[in-house]
Amino acid sequence: MVSGDQGTYMVAECRNGDVIGVAVAQGAQAERQSLKALYVDAAFRSHGVGSALARTALTGLDPARPVDLEVARFNRGAQRFYARLGFQAVLGSDALWRGVLPVVTMRRPAGWCETLKP
Ligand SMILES: CC(C)(COP(=O)(O)OP(=O)(O)OC[C@H]1O[C@@H](n2cnc3c(N)ncnc32)[C@H](O)[C@@H]1OP(=O)(O)O)[C@@H](O)C(=O)NCCC(=O)NCCS
Repeated sequence: MVSGDQGTYMVAECRNGDVIGVAVAQGAQAERQSLKALYVDAAFRSHGVGSALARTALTGLDPARPVDLEVARFNRGAQRFYARLGFQAVLGSDALWRGVLPVVTMRRPAGWCETLKP
């Protein structure tokens, strides 16, 4: 894990040391906290790597404040994945990332706790 001005970067490695996933969290000290990126090598998906990376990234943020992320509108699988981690689509948040990619903001509310989820 590496922290800098642009956020905290963490990677997942497989046994031979190859990097198979990355997560970037931003804003632990700033007004707005966000999960900026999450990616797992396609060959290693559906084994819990993405959930582990996301949970580790979120652990470094302030649980008393909300966490936002932007996800492509068409990426329904990722939206379901984030919903399981406590994120909900923010109504009316549709936007065009860099003017081309339709995205929606998802937010995990302040004080959300995985062990208390319904
Ligand atoms: C989203 C992502 C990080 C999940 O990583 P992962 O290691 O597969 O995550 P986990 O194994 O912890 O959880 C997988 C579950 O998430 C759901 N899921 C995640 N992405 C999905 C997708 N694109 N399509 C369908 N389901 C998806 C599935 O329900 C899956 O459950 P399954 O194991 O029963 O198939 C990975 O799919 C990925 O890198 N996708 C491409 C980049 C991306 O979409 N990033 C997020 C948006 S910014």
